[in-house]
Amino acid sequence: MNILLLGPPGAGKGTQAKRLEERYSMVQLSTGDMLRAERVSGSALGKRVQAIMDAGELVSDDIMIALIASRIAGLKGKGFILDGFPRTVPQAKALDRMLDENGLALDQVIELTVDENALIDRISGRFSCKKCGASYHDRYHQPKQEGLCDVCGSHDFIRRPDDNAATVKARLAAYREQTAPILPYYRRKGVLRSVDGMAPIDHVAAEIETILNNAKG
Ligand code: AP5
Repeated sequence: MNILLLGPPGAGKGTQAKRLEERYSMVQLSTGDMLRAERVSGSALGKRVQAIMDAGELVSDDIMIALIASRIAGLKGKGFILDGFPRTVPQAKALDRMLDENGLALDQVIELTVDENALIDRISGRFSCKKCGASYHDRYHQPKQEGLCDVCGSHDFIRRPDDNAATVKARLAAYREQTAPILPYYRRKGVLRSVDGMAPIDHVAAEIETILNNAKG
């Protein structure tokens, strides 16, 4: 099963993608994580995208399409979850071409619908494990044992530089203006489903599972 998770910043795409990855051994393809890894490595690409990400703007389609193309090629035979790509109509069209060339297709596109007013609170409380990337929240999702990652046991946690109120507003504007227009694109293809992303994390995960189980028939 190949799926795409859509939704504004803080909707819970990464949280749900990690769950699906653990439960169904699917491969998570998060373009945000890929870009952050480039930044940490100090690569030319990482330096190029740093200011754009910190301003909450979108990286150019050319860069993003090249970045994801290198990963799509190795996916045959593995279920995958796209998280953060595509984010514009040109990216969605390029994705279709890349999948087609590799004999792949999207089975489900799942939109997490959320109340924008809750997102700044969600994002400003977010922290992640530095080692494995597992995502937590100061109030909504704390590690079971304080200071220890549930997934890998690391003690090292980080907060993202773009997780502040001013940048979140710019990211939400980018979502509304550039990403939301891809929803009708997938609706027309008949693969778009919506899940209430305001429900507790476990409920959202259960809803997604129901969609995937129904799709398997
Ligand atoms: P990216 O890393 O993709 O960020 P984003 O889309 O803004 O999404 P987030 O990671 O902030 O949110 P999420 O939906 O994954 O929420 P999460 O599960 O963590 O992109 C970063 C930047 O990279 C972009 O701004 C852009 O510059 C660039 N970029 C990336 N891809 C690009 C592309 N294709 N084109 C152009 N530029 C690109 O949850 C958030 C918090 O809420 C967590 O603390 C979590 O524990 C909590 N939470 C989750 N679900 C719930 C729930 N149901 N109830 C309560 N709390 C919850």
